[in-house]
Amino acid sequence: MNLSKLPVHVAIIMDGNGRWAKKRGLSRVHGHVEGVKRVEEIVRAAKEVGIKYLTLFAFSTENWRRPPEEVNFLMGLLKSYVESKRDEFLSNDIRFNAMGRLKRLPNEVYEAVKALMEDTRHCESLVVTLALNYGGRAEMVDAFKKLAKEVASGRIEPKQVDEELISKHLYCPWIPEPDLLIRTSGEMRISNFMLWQLSYTELYFTPTLWPDFTKEEFYKALEDYSRRERRFGGI
Ligand code: FPP
Repeated sequence: MNLSKLPVHVAIIMDGNGRWAKKRGLSRVHGHVEGVKRVEEIVRAAKEVGIKYLTLFAFSTENWRRPPEEVNFLMGLLKSYVESKRDEFLSNDIRFNAMGRLKRLPNEVYEAVKALMEDTRHCESLVVTLALNYGGRAEMVDAFKKLAKEVASGRIEPKQVDEELISKHLYCPWIPEPDLLIRTSGEMRISNFMLWQLSYTELYFTPTLWPDFTKEEFYKALEDYSRRERRFGGI
């Protein structure tokens, strides 16, 4: 693989679990179970090649609209994923992080997420961020509310509001913007994911469904990225 240009931050919209299951005559939750295996595989692959930040869209603010059984199943999967990763993340120097309206997650999921974030806070080879109860517009709303409060209290002047200040009020201002966004399953949409941060991100869409998105597929996306030229609006 040509590693001359590796993205620092890769964000992924993991889509297609339901369709993968349906194709096999299985229930949707089977697709999510298989999807977790790919999460594990892609985290290892990212660490192996030296990616520094991996951000995975695991549950959106819109996903609450799914049938309650599916939502509960996903929450259970999340909890067991987070609870089972402690040793692996610590021994591989992987920092676990989460972003979104986390306090609205079921309490036991929230507690498990918080615990793994705290336990791995010192790790720095790779940062794995799960977007949970996350929406790009919700993130901006939350940022603008914080900013509005600071303006109202006189701590900042309206004329000081600029792109940098807005960026600093997003959920994870310490994480650089994604260099590469991958979306699986053939949908060509951003679906309210990291709307602010994706302004200059390279987009990679593949028809592969998430449960089929193996390490080899991931490396293909990285190779594709390495051939692209980014100009950030310049020439
Ligand atoms: C999209 O498939 C996927 C999700 C709703 C979330 C992704 C969740 C996982 C990979 C499993 C849980 C993750 C972790 C980290 C434990 P879909 O159901 O929208 O598929 P469809 O579009 O084919 O219906």
